[in-house]
Amino acid sequence: MDYRALANEYGTPLYVYDFNYFNEQYNKLKEAFGGRKSLLAYAIKANSNLSVIQNFGRQGSGADCVSIGEVRRALKAGIAPYKIIFSGVGKRDDEIREAIEADILFINAESEGELKRIEVIAKELGKEARISLRVNPNIDPQTHPYISTGLSENKFGVSLNEAKRLYLFAHNSANLNPVGIHFHIGSQLTQLEPIRESSQIVADLVRSLEKVGIEIKFFDVGGGLGVKYNNEMLIEPYDYAQAILSTLAGLDVTIVCEPGRFLTANGGHFITKVLYEKQSDKKRFVIVDGAMNDLIRPSLYNAFHKIEVLGKEGASGSTVDVVGPVCESGDFLAKNIELPETGHDDLLVVHSSGAYGFVMSSNYNTRGRAAEVAIEEGKARLIRRRETFEDVVALEESYLQ
Ligand SMILES: Cc1ncc(COP(=O)(O)O)c(C=O)c1O
Repeated sequence: MDYRALANEYGTPLYVYDFNYFNEQYNKLKEAFGGRKSLLAYAIKANSNLSVIQNFGRQGSGADCVSIGEVRRALKAGIAPYKIIFSGVGKRDDEIREAIEADILFINAESEGELKRIEVIAKELGKEARISLRVNPNIDPQTHPYISTGLSENKFGVSLNEAKRLYLFAHNSANLNPVGIHFHIGSQLTQLEPIRESSQIVADLVRSLEKVGIEIKFFDVGGGLGVKYNNEMLIEPYDYAQAILSTLAGLDVTIVCEPGRFLTANGGHFITKVLYEKQSDKKRFVIVDGAMNDLIRPSLYNAFHKIEVLGKEGASGSTVDVVGPVCESGDFLAKNIELPETGHDDLLVVHSSGAYGFVMSSNYNTRGRAAEVAIEEGKARLIRRRETFEDVVALEESYLQ
């Protein structure tokens, strides 16, 4: 990839996505589920650029959405309603209404209160809403606490006992059709056993529901497959699929999987330009034009992203913090990494930035958001232009007195 040419053409900071890599990841996971009925519903929260969603849609993917905005994005990008799932712990009435009207595959309810709201709204619309329940299997996924979601202390889903009662309620309702069951224990998962264990617990629940005449058609295992940022041990898609399949003996269900990070993280690079080097009494800093408003993962989770100086890959160097121009001490892309000496206009390549990168960006410090570029078959195309100052103030300007 000629990042220098891309930086010259589109400016920096810049997100660059390799769509061919995205598709390879998609196919690996799809193939892992082999002959079983399965639907990959790309978790568009990971990278919700319309062109990214459209690209996955062309591979056959559905979409896992966590707001009505994401549902609209999925529809706009050409995903068929029957491949769209709407999850999330706090859906508003208007969001539920629109999702029912759009006739999506199912709404994933995360509490009794929410299930009952879905029923009320479906009744008002004279419809039957297809739903699933997010079950919290109370399993420790052994990942970062901010992205761990499957423990009873987390805000997500309902307990097993509650789930049984709520499935019976939904089964008996004229306006609810419980077609699915869902769990998602966390993100950046690198251990197989918690996934298998959760799947077993939820599959057993499906079996007990069958006994009372409730037939679950969609077994939604969430997302969460981890990727390599540094030297993590990874779960192979084949082993992942086998672990889940091993728990489903005798069940005729379509497996739904909601990968986000696995599909996009390692296919994205964030390109930022060196502004200055600065040496304090204690520390060397490389100050770049990308910042926490562009890529917040290091600041938010202390996440590691490998960084290289373009053209000096592998060269020896000294310890440095890579920091942005935002007025926060927490504004850094890396701390205490080794980098060779850099000069004004050198480019840094920040790896594994294709998931939870651009989507978490903001206009903090009145910084326009970065441009995004897709690479397909070696060709670059802009998929989001850089925000201008005018874009940033557009929603405030007319209120000036
Ligand atoms: C319900 C649900 N599904 C899927 C995902 C995607 O997770 P990942 O990007 O780790 O695959 C998430 C992420 O938080 C989620 O909450």
